[in-house]
Amino acid sequence: MTKPLSIAVAGLGTVGAGVLALLRDNAATITARAGRPLAVTAVSARDRTRDRGISLSGLRWYEDPVALAHDPHVDVVVEAIGGSDGQAAALVRAALAAGKPVVTANKALLALHGAELAATAEAKGVALGFEAAVAGGIPVIKAIREGLAANDISRITGILNGTCNYILTTMRERGREFAEALAEAQKLGYAEADPAFDIDGVDAAHKLAILAALAFGRPVDFAAVHVEGIREISALDIRLAEELGYRIKLLGIARRTDAGVETRVHPCMVPIAHPIARVDGVFNAVVAEGDFCGRIVLEGRGAGAGPTASAVVADLIDIARDRRTPVWGVAGSALSQVPSVPMGKRVGAYYLRLMVVDRPGVIADVTAALRDHHISLESMLQRGRAPGEAVPVVVTTHDCEEAQMRAAIARIQSLEAVVEKPALIRIEAL
Ligand code: NDP
Ligand code: HSE
Repeated sequence: MTKPLSIAVAGLGTVGAGVLALLRDNAATITARAGRPLAVTAVSARDRTRDRGISLSGLRWYEDPVALAHDPHVDVVVEAIGGSDGQAAALVRAALAAGKPVVTANKALLALHGAELAATAEAKGVALGFEAAVAGGIPVIKAIREGLAANDISRITGILNGTCNYILTTMRERGREFAEALAEAQKLGYAEADPAFDIDGVDAAHKLAILAALAFGRPVDFAAVHVEGIREISALDIRLAEELGYRIKLLGIARRTDAGVETRVHPCMVPIAHPIARVDGVFNAVVAEGDFCGRIVLEGRGAGAGPTASAVVADLIDIARDRRTPVWGVAGSALSQVPSVPMGKRVGAYYLRLMVVDRPGVIADVTAALRDHHISLESMLQRGRAPGEAVPVVVTTHDCEEAQMRAAIARIQSLEAVVEKPALIRIEAL
């Protein structure tokens, strides 16, 4: 029997303990596929006394996770601590510097420090695996980097955060408002105790930055991602979207245009017939469009112990087999410097919902603002009649530039008859 691959796991929470359980439960299958046993020999977490539902007997325990990188009996390090900095980053840096392959589920770390870490991995000639960092159990990294390697990719579109997708699904199916749906997601353990990274779009943006680097062969650039979350989505907008033939989804979109690459995360209206509109609950989905493969759609569980461990162990099997691919699909020196396109240049249609006082002339003022910014209307609807009171008015536009739309909204918002901040949702022609 070939020598086992000796693995150290840092972090024994949902992901780390899940990896240990999967390696134990599917040992025979994994050994056959890896060509040798995968053996966890060392671990690190904060609380040694905590029951993790898995035996740790016989494993070397380290208080300091960075020490795992220097254990001479460890071949590969799994980082499942989390956070873009702190001990997770220190451990990954130390392991790569010591010439040890690393597998991580940490999208925040990759999005912020991926360029530097990939350069170290390349210089040291070791793998940096991160299949688990994007869309959990969906093998999207391998699909884009290896399966679609022959294609020029024009666009990646993803539902990349299960918590947001659960909240939006619950709001639509049960008519709940955002705060109620969030409380439910928290009760079910989907959202974090501090759910800001999920609902403000940051988690999805971390993942999108990684996908954009892979799809377009450019350095990972989290700062270039335009990020909006779902806090301002109302049950009313979800209902009105349905009337217009759309679903509201928080999407991450990375798109090549003549001007460069757009990377943006924000709520979108997508046609109900599009496959991504039907991905509900905590599920994730990624749609990739390549020039020779056409459109491919991947859907599955984006989080949880099982799906995430599945992705981590797939990377470990590649390392055991010594199957290597450059971290971003091409060597660091071959990464392109294609520019990022600012959000103001986004061209597309818009849904604008206003609460306006129901009195003569208000619509004329609204449409004048749109006309003056050269924005053409596609449809308009007003629900209800309440003279002197506020009523919702919805406008959808033909394609225009985001900067034009923003300028028009600033003027509309200043109208005395407009009583709330307008709700703006981009309509995506997918
Ligand atoms: P958890 O909070 O469940 O687990 C974190 C683990 O890290 C805990 O075991 C904790 O120890 C340990 N830890 C924290 N700080 C230190 C430290 N300074 N030294 C040593 N150990 C430490 O996180 P998850 O398992 O949910 O997430 C881990 C990573 O995986 C994150 O990057 C996350 O974004 C990513 N991820 C998570 C998914 C999920 O479904 N949960 C899905 C995809 C990616 P202790 O237990 O003793 O407190
Ligand atoms: N918080 C993430 C989500 C978990 O809700 O999708 C995994 O990245």
